Amino acid sequence: MNQPTELTIAVDVYRQRRERVLTALREAGGGVAIVPTAPEVLRNRDADYPYRHDSYFYYLTGFTEPEALLVLDASAASGEPRSILFCRAKNVERETWEGFRFGPEGAREAFGFDAAFTFDEIDAHLPHLIADKPALHYAFGASAELDGQVRGWVEAVRAQGRSGVTAPGAIHDLLPVLDEMRLIKDAHELAIMRRAGQISAKAHRRAMAACRPGVREYELEAELLYTFRKHGAQGPAYGSIVAAGANACVLHYPAGNAIARDGDLILIDAACELDGYASDITRTFPASGRFTPAQRELYDIVLAAQQAAIDATRAGVDFEAPHQAAVRVLAQGLLDTGIIDRQRFASVDDVIAERAYARFYMHRTGHWLGMDVHDCGDYRERSAPRDEQGAIPWRTLKPSMTLTIEPGLYVRAADDVPERYWNIGIRIEDDAIVTATGCELMTRDVPVKVDEIEALMQAARASAGAACE
Ligand code: GLY
Ligand code: MN
Ligand code: MN
Repeated sequence: MNQPTELTIAVDVYRQRRERVLTALREAGGGVAIVPTAPEVLRNRDADYPYRHDSYFYYLTGFTEPEALLVLDASAASGEPRSILFCRAKNVERETWEGFRFGPEGAREAFGFDAAFTFDEIDAHLPHLIADKPALHYAFGASAELDGQVRGWVEAVRAQGRSGVTAPGAIHDLLPVLDEMRLIKDAHELAIMRRAGQISAKAHRRAMAACRPGVREYELEAELLYTFRKHGAQGPAYGSIVAAGANACVLHYPAGNAIARDGDLILIDAACELDGYASDITRTFPASGRFTPAQRELYDIVLAAQQAAIDATRAGVDFEAPHQAAVRVLAQGLLDTGIIDRQRFASVDDVIAERAYARFYMHRTGHWLGMDVHDCGDYRERSAPRDEQGAIPWRTLKPSMTLTIEPGLYVRAADDVPERYWNIGIRIEDDAIVTATGCELMTRDVPVKVDEIEALMQAARASAGAACE
């Protein structure tokens, strides 16, 4: 990943997060945590895929270079380093080809670690760091390479057993500790996420304004990517979906080369990653700049479902509440339009009980959002007793959790569905911060109401026309 846009690295933010982890591990009996960053991945011959750091590692360090590993020693004796970075050595020749590297000393100073060593010193240091410590904490099972390395370090300690050194007696999964921290965003994170949402909203506005019948999906994708980079985001947070006409009914359709035709709706689900944080926006709009009556009917149902979900999002309710609110509105709309047969389903409760809506709304209404677009964090209360149906209860929303609110309807051509709705796919997605009394939407700098979308598109056409005259 390119360097973050943060002008100065928020050293204290990352240091405080490391301190929180150290405190949590101390309270759990101590031990050593190991957090590697992501590996570089070869694309072909000597060309790599664009590098993206590991989110957990970045959360605790702010450090974006590959070949790095963080050690947090919650059992360090007083005066010994607790926060230790391994990273690439300075290398004049490699830096000539690939650019600046901090090197251990530079990284220690710039990012506030207690100590730093080169990456190729890991195998020499780790057995000493974990010797005589009660436990190891890492994401076991997440990387075969790390599992193998840890085994090697533990074996190296055991090999010295006759000199009185003991190997850690337990291995704990570190991720639940980090997931809980990442689930509640701090002020630094929320500020970046708001900015990411604003840039992504700009990109959607630009794509709407550029849309005309005859344009291809990839041309609209180009408008999005241009805007992300133009405003400093490092790139898209996930593969951009730009789907014209019936393609919108394919949930993970990647931007292709289909032509947006007069009468088509265009569904764009695309957003940027800024300084390690994802945004996630979907808008659906007509290629012609005017919704047809059938498109408008379904659009307004999805918009009402989204509003119901937004109204149901606040601290103290469970994660499922917005979904249930959206499903009820969508199910009612499917009955009202006759897309679901009113002869077969007497009431909206029947539609919900039999999940008849799922043929037209097959995904959930939201997910955690953060460093990863589908961010980490439990959706259910792990430690709560099971309810009467034997299910683990849904998680209760808390202030500063961030999630998406993204209902949709996808109506494929089918004999039992009124033809006027065939091949209409609509999703509307915004990003929300949970507050005590409701939620703050971070992505509303792009129109969402039919009239506002049409007005933006008409204004764009009028000004393009004027420019040509
Ligand atoms: N863009 C992926 C999602 O909306 O979940
Ligand atoms: Mn989403
Ligand atoms: Mn999305």
